[in-house]
This record gives sequence, structure tokens and C-alpha cells, in this order.
Amino acid sequence: MRQPDAFLTRPHERWKDSYIDAVYEYIREKGAVNWHPEILRKRFGEYLKVVEQMERDPLAGMAPSSLFWLIADGRAYIGDVELRHHLNDSLERFGGHIGYKIRPSFRRRGYGALICRLGIRKARLLGIGDILITCDDDNIGSAKIIEANGGVLQDLIDNKRGVLTRRYWIRAGE
Ligand SMILES: CC(C)(COP(=O)(O)OP(=O)(O)OC[C@H]1O[C@@H](n2cnc3c(N)ncnc32)[C@H](O)[C@@H]1OP(=O)(O)O)[C@@H](O)C(=O)NCCC(=O)NCCS
Repeated sequence: MRQPDAFLTRPHERWKDSYIDAVYEYIREKGAVNWHPEILRKRFGEYLKVVEQMERDPLAGMAPSSLFWLIADGRAYIGDVELRHHLNDSLERFGGHIGYKIRPSFRRRGYGALICRLGIRKARLLGIGDILITCDDDNIGSAKIIEANGGVLQDLIDNKRGVLTRRYWIRAGE
């Protein structure tokens, strides 16, 4: 199901409008987002600076992370993947090295599996060896994606969120 023109890239002005449309979808789904779409529209440069800062000089206690957008479907933002360069205590329990999402209107078309696969490839380029990926126990789609990408279930832990967290490892060389 891989889309031939799909690729990961840094967030960029070129795909800003489709990203803003997607953020409205995330709001409808979750009720809140870090950057309101109208703020993004007006202050996109600031958003890009924060993304850059998360990679170079993150806030105290946070692991450095790199953000990539998945561009597909005639060159539009479809989803994103965040790569955390190393684990801290909280990422070890929840979050792991890789977090991804696909905009709601593009789900169930194989993009989730694709962004995870491309994210693993980027993580390897960043020098991350063994990769931890976590998901909620009831997140059937994400569990399938991680397992299809070679994830081996280590355990399920209770992070007091009302649902257990599955912790999977993708070992270096796989
Ligand atoms: C999880 C998520 C990334 C899946 O994206 P997607 O584009 O729908 O995934 P795919 O189309 O590649 O589907 C992969 C598999 O999961 C299945 N699947 C996807 N969503 C599902 C759901 N809600 N219920 C059951 N199965 C589901 C698909 O049928 C497919 O199965 P197959 O391999 O047997 O064909 C997407 O739902 C999402 O962004 N959710 C919110 C953020 C999130 O949960 N991120 C993961 C955190 S670890």
C-alpha cells in the first residue's frame, strides 16, 4: 500500500496550509493541541524555531527530539513522527524513542505503517540502536504497526492512565 511519492521531511512553509488543515482535524479529535492553527498561520516562523530548539537545545529534563512530516497524496502533510534521541525516565515508561500520528482523514490507508517504517530508518541514521516504541494496550492499529515493523513486546506497564502501556523493542540490525 506504500504511496510512491511519500517521504519524510522537516516541517516547512511549503506544506503549511495542509498542516493547518490537519491541526483542525486533531482538534476535532482530541479537543486541544499545542499550537492553535490560527496562531500557526500567523507565527509559523516561531513554530519552526521551537521545532529546531527541541532538537538542539530542549527544555530542561527533555530529551532532544527531531520532528519530521510525512508528505504524500499530491504533496500534502499527512502525519508526523518525532524521534527522541535518547530515553529519560519518563520516555522509558511512556513515549519511547518514536511517536507518530496520521491525520484522522487519512487513516486506515497504510500511512501509519509507512510513517513508522520511515521513522525507524531515520532513527537509525541518527544513531539510535535499539528502539523503544510504546502504545496504549487498546491502540490496536498502533500495536499492529509496531509488530509489523519488527517490534517485540517486552511488557505492559501501569502508568496510571487507565490503560496499560505496551513497550516494544526493535533491536539494532532488524
Ligand atoms: C495509530 C495510527 C497511527 C494508525 O494509522 P493508520 O494510518 O490508520 O494505520 P494503517 O492504515 O497503516 O493501519 C495499520 C494496521 O492497523 C489497523 N488499524 C488501524 N487503525 C485501527 C483501528 N482503529 N482499529 C483496528 N485496527 C486498526 C489497520 O487495519 C492495519 O491493519 P492490517 O495491517 O492488518 O491491514 C493512527 O490511528 C493515529 O494517528 N492515531 C493517533 C495517534 C497514535 O495513536 N499514535 C501512535 C502512538 S504509539
